Amino acid sequence: MLPYLVIVFILTACTCGENPAIKIILTNKGLQYGRHAGAGWAQQSLKDLSVPDVSGGIHIRPFGTVGYTLTDMTVTQCDFPEPSIDFYQTVTGFKSTLPGLSAAVHGNWRINYGIIRDAGSFDLAVFNVEVTSVIELGRDASGHLSVSSVSCQATVGNVKLNLHGGGSWIVQPFVDKFYGHIRGKIEGNICPAVEQHILVLERRLQAINVSFQVNEALAVDIPLTDLPFIDDLSLRLDLMGKFYSVKGHEEPPFEAQPFTLPEQPDYMLSMGLSEFTANSASYGYFSAGQLQILINDSMIPRTSSFHLNTSSFGPFIPQLPKLFPGLLMEIQVYAKEAPSFCFQPGVVNLDFPAVVKAFAIQPNATLTPLFKLGLDSKFSGKVWIDSGRIKGYVAMDNLTSTLEESEIGTFKTAALEGVIGLGIKYGVLSKVNKNLTEGFALPSMQHAQLVNPVLNVQQGFLAILSDAEVRNPERS
Ligand SMILES: *[C@@H]1O[C@H](CO)[C@@H](O)[C@H](O)[C@H]1NC(C)=O
Ligand SMILES: *[C@@H]1O[C@H](CO)[C@@H](O)[C@H](O)[C@H]1NC(C)=O
Ligand SMILES: *[C@@H]1O[C@H](CO)[C@@H](O)[C@H](O)[C@H]1NC(C)=O
Ligand SMILES: *[C@@H]1O[C@H](CO)[C@@H](O)[C@H](O)[C@H]1NC(C)=O
Ligand SMILES: *[C@@H]1O[C@H](CO)[C@@H](O)[C@H](O)[C@H]1NC(C)=O
Ligand SMILES: *[C@@H]1O[C@H](CO)[C@@H](O)[C@H](O)[C@H]1NC(C)=O
Repeated sequence: MLPYLVIVFILTACTCGENPAIKIILTNKGLQYGRHAGAGWAQQSLKDLSVPDVSGGIHIRPFGTVGYTLTDMTVTQCDFPEPSIDFYQTVTGFKSTLPGLSAAVHGNWRINYGIIRDAGSFDLAVFNVEVTSVIELGRDASGHLSVSSVSCQATVGNVKLNLHGGGSWIVQPFVDKFYGHIRGKIEGNICPAVEQHILVLERRLQAINVSFQVNEALAVDIPLTDLPFIDDLSLRLDLMGKFYSVKGHEEPPFEAQPFTLPEQPDYMLSMGLSEFTANSASYGYFSAGQLQILINDSMIPRTSSFHLNTSSFGPFIPQLPKLFPGLLMEIQVYAKEAPSFCFQPGVVNLDFPAVVKAFAIQPNATLTPLFKLGLDSKFSGKVWIDSGRIKGYVAMDNLTSTLEESEIGTFKTAALEGVIGLGIKYGVLSKVNKNLTEGFALPSMQHAQLVNPVLNVQQGFLAILSDAEVRNPERS
């Protein structure tokens, strides 16, 4: 029975992979906003689109093939209807339809037939161009989002070509007979152009790093952990969201727990960050040895009535000034374990187990160890978003100290603990809260910004709900 259980456990452990710690939902509201913004931009960029030259031959009985070339084509007018785009469950992607685009193109024409050469300019009107494109979303082996064209259909309703200059009065009657050919040429060019755009987008997605350095200590992995999920109303992406230390790249000794980010159709975007994300960052700092601080007397303001010397500790440890009279002290504080975050409805809790080591500084600069104190502190905080900034407030809920080692005999830690508590409150928390009251700017993107974002703390995760605004879409 036991070996069987072990095998089942190993198999399920291998196939279910890691739980995502970041979830992103794009709702239909977001998709429709993106469509509207994209349509405005597309209309703009069609105006200064340069159309590639077209050449071909038209078979005219009884003369044979007349070769033609169209050059210097520019779109002079474009009536660009809003396209439709919808989540498309059948292929896990989008279906987009452009109904009835009309455009006017001006350019130059040249024909050759045997030794006859002629040239002039033309105006081409294209009516009722309809394009339907289906795009599939996927995930590649390294966890990038990928896009590919599944199908594309283009039809051109009608064309009208007017030639000017040269012997256009001779050629024009023939041209009128070949609208089918011209239409086919245009139709044949649309889908390859659409597919080319999708390829460009795919290459850009591949170029996005799914792992990047956040600061000098931390890097973060954000590959997709799953295939994108699509239903009629939303697109859901699951990302790893694991921080680690740049130096050691040590795996955190805990795993992401599953969580469910509820869908909020009134917001364009929802993002969930599980407490694993915060805890992996905490573990990253811890394993990089960043969570330690050395306190000596030169860090204490000269005007302070308390100084880091053995006589100042007399009231808490009576034997200390007697054993080591008139010596300055040094205090080392470091995290015993990685501080751990716990997200509960409306509250972020933080446990910070630390160690405090005290030394006397001998006149010859040797450090003499005095005692080692275990110091467990618990904090709770609130976070919210106000005026586009993340703000918060932190309070200390509990502080317990235990004397773990002592070179100077035992002493009661209660009075010392009280002083340390005041030090944390006035020395650390007041500064942290000052910063949290001012708040931190939300991470900004180059071409989009969040609008009216809301942050709330839920069981096991933070949820950020927001609308977005495209500022200045990039030209491709
Ligand atoms: C992606 O990561 C590589 C290596 O870490 C780095 O050299 C490159 O600059 C990164 N690219 C971007 C766009 O951040
Ligand atoms: C206190 O520590 C700083 C570095 O952390 C050092 O530059 C300074 O000399 C120290 N002061 C004393 C009095 O030991
Ligand atoms: C020790 O600190 C106290 C203040 O807490 C100060 O009055 C005293 O002069 C200091 N002694 C030495 C030797 O630095
Ligand atoms: C520094 O002074 C202390 C106490 O006087 C002594 O025990 C220690 O050996 C000295 N260390 C050095 C390197 O001189
Ligand atoms: C602080 O924590 C200790 C140990 O976990 C507990 O016994 C004590 O009741 C707590 N005190 C407060 C005020 O929560
Ligand atoms: C508060 O903000 C300032 C400036 O951004 C920064 O230098 C300082 O380290 C922050 N202090 C704390 C306790 O977060």
